[in-house]
Amino acid sequence: MSRLSLLVVLSAAFVATTATPAVDLGGGCTITSFNQVDSVVKSCSNIVISGLTVPAGKTLELNLKDNAKLTFQGTTKFEHHVWKGPLVIISGNKITVTGASGSKLDGQGPAYWDGKGEKTTKPKFFKIKAKGGSVFKNLQLLNCPVQCVSIDSCSDLTLSNFNIDNSAGKKLGHNTDGFDISSSKNLIIDNAHVTNQDDCIAVNKGSNMIFRNIHCSGGHGLSISVGQSKTGSFEDNTIKNVTFIDSYVTDSDNGIHVKTHSDAGKGSLTDITYQNIEMSGIRKFGINIEQDYENGKPTGKPKNNIPITKFTAKGIRGHMTGSNSMAVKILCAQGGCSNWVWSGVSLSDAAKKSSCTASPVKAC
Ligand SMILES: *[C@@H]1O[C@H](CO)[C@@H](O)[C@H](O)[C@H]1NC(C)=O
Repeated sequence: MSRLSLLVVLSAAFVATTATPAVDLGGGCTITSFNQVDSVVKSCSNIVISGLTVPAGKTLELNLKDNAKLTFQGTTKFEHHVWKGPLVIISGNKITVTGASGSKLDGQGPAYWDGKGEKTTKPKFFKIKAKGGSVFKNLQLLNCPVQCVSIDSCSDLTLSNFNIDNSAGKKLGHNTDGFDISSSKNLIIDNAHVTNQDDCIAVNKGSNMIFRNIHCSGGHGLSISVGQSKTGSFEDNTIKNVTFIDSYVTDSDNGIHVKTHSDAGKGSLTDITYQNIEMSGIRKFGINIEQDYENGKPTGKPKNNIPITKFTAKGIRGHMTGSNSMAVKILCAQGGCSNWVWSGVSLSDAAKKSSCTASPVKAC
């Protein structure tokens, strides 16, 4: 075979297997069209996603190599499709995921928002499964159809400088949680701005977490909700060592919301700190701690299946607003709450008197 015909055969084979070859930028690999994703993710350790449109009904699945770096550039868009998603899953060990200046991921929320939230099918947006000292930073998420960032089965993970902007969903957006955290440990979220229509942060399961410099607006506040499944094990119903510090909640239903589910099995909520939290324009509760949730709703009948111990509220300041507002509501079962620290809590302008049942501290 002549050299020329060998080349022709080789390049024909190349064209046949990779429709659009990845562009190699001096050791990096850039994805500009969806059909490049799989081959680039398999072969590259320094990936750029630039101005990508993800086709309707597809997940942008990025299972990165150990130590890989990924950068989002420009706007990453997700075509509208009625399904559960997620629109993005990023997984890996020791990975670094960065948003370049001016970049954003646009979930096209307005195409989904119908005022019904998760009651009608919508795709979750951005799922992280990362460990080993992975870092996600400078990411901007716009218009989540429903829940924005899901952190599930992660360990040793840091998120910093996130901007979740669902302000356009003020009327019809619903269940657009900022960060949902489940089964994770050793997590830090530092400096996040969240404007949304449900929990700003919701911790459901896990241990060793710090949330620092979180700015929440429009939603339901800084939340912990434990024991959501009736069949869960003790571990499933346990959250330990979680700190929210130096944060702000404005224009929201609640500032701080902690709930345990009385219809779950036994569990534990322990070593929880809320410190230096500033609030304004809180419409329902400044601080609400309840042990009476069933099927996602308060029943008024607390149980101590998941005791709340070593709970600290320290330096919680701000203003309530509107005719439904109450600074503090604590509803513990007899013996359900113990070993609490409560200091420097000052929430003014509430319409209703605070209410404390079986509280281990003088909070009312
Ligand atoms: C609590 O969690 C933080 C954040 O991961 C960690 O730095 C700290 O060591 C943990 N504390 C304990 C007592 O485990």
